[in-house]
Amino acid sequence: MGLLSLRKNIFMQKPEFVCRDQAQSLKDQTFEASAPSNIALVKYWGKYDQQLPANTSISFTLNACKTETQLVFKAGNTTDTFVFDVFFEGEKAENFKPKIKSFFERIEAYVPFLKNYQLEIHTSNTFPHSSGIASSASGMAALAKTIMAAEQSFSQLTEEYLQLKTSFLARLGSGSACRSTSGDLVVWGAHSDIPESSNFYGIHYNQALHANFKNFQDYILLVDKGQKQVSSSVGHNLMHGHPFAEQRFAQANQHMAKMKSILATGDYDQFFEIVESEALSLHAMMLTSQPYFILMRPNTLQIIERIWRFRKESQLPLGFTLDAGANVHLLFPTAVKTKVESFIEDELKQFCQNQEYIKDEINIE
Ligand code: PMV
Repeated sequence: MGLLSLRKNIFMQKPEFVCRDQAQSLKDQTFEASAPSNIALVKYWGKYDQQLPANTSISFTLNACKTETQLVFKAGNTTDTFVFDVFFEGEKAENFKPKIKSFFERIEAYVPFLKNYQLEIHTSNTFPHSSGIASSASGMAALAKTIMAAEQSFSQLTEEYLQLKTSFLARLGSGSACRSTSGDLVVWGAHSDIPESSNFYGIHYNQALHANFKNFQDYILLVDKGQKQVSSSVGHNLMHGHPFAEQRFAQANQHMAKMKSILATGDYDQFFEIVESEALSLHAMMLTSQPYFILMRPNTLQIIERIWRFRKESQLPLGFTLDAGANVHLLFPTAVKTKVESFIEDELKQFCQNQEYIKDEINIE
């Protein structure tokens, strides 16, 4: 073993995920996969070492917002660098390359066959281009799935190994991507109340789940469709030395424990209390980072105030969450869809850019 690979092994997070089989020729082969976006109920914000989460998070997997990816193994590559091109919706996308390059470098030891080829990646999203929706989760999850499909083509992998390693790889591309590789309700980050939960990959939520949460809608109100000004990776980094970091990580882990009992009892009021508190705590971390920044827009607050007013008057179960951006995710059970749709049309749509919103849903078996 060379010195370089020895050093890599010392820092290896999961030696059991190293592909040890010799790849037969993958030349001219194409592997396809799609992966959905997800929306966190308890948020991940802050990481350490190589993409390990500072607290546990849990997310609903969406249905409609997906990335579809093809990985093509072209000619062989004998150089010591990754050689690849990326095409987004048919056009060469140079701007995608740095993130994918660092993803490849992080996963190299686990999937060494990747570097032996010149690669082409073709990717597209089912959601509108530049809708301001974070696509790194679905994008990295889909890419990790194509890579594992390639490994599976020459290796006998158990279903469990495939699932966990795919999530493990996706995590090294973008943390939240590990919650998008499989499952409807996914937990990432070791938590004493959730057996088998791990910092290394997402697992399917394995605790009691009330029927109230099995058919949910997530309508994404597009307040700002532009590129966000501060990337997630910059935001995560600002949690190092953040004055409230430790309290925030403790809060998220307490929220996770409460969420476990709420998911079992089906209490909507308590559910939205945690979900909204998580969204606002996430943005509070941004407001109190050094340097501080604001991703919400005035219309984000307009929408939140109207949701609160409507909920009070109608007594319907609905609430919001936010990602690292200005858009508002309106969550509600499918049973109240008609009433909520009228509310959006009458009161919320006016605050969306071009009055646009995306209807997505969560279906849990
Ligand atoms: O996966 P990243 O590194 O882009 O982080 C995104 C984190 C949030 O979307 C803001 C929250 C979450 O848990 O999904």
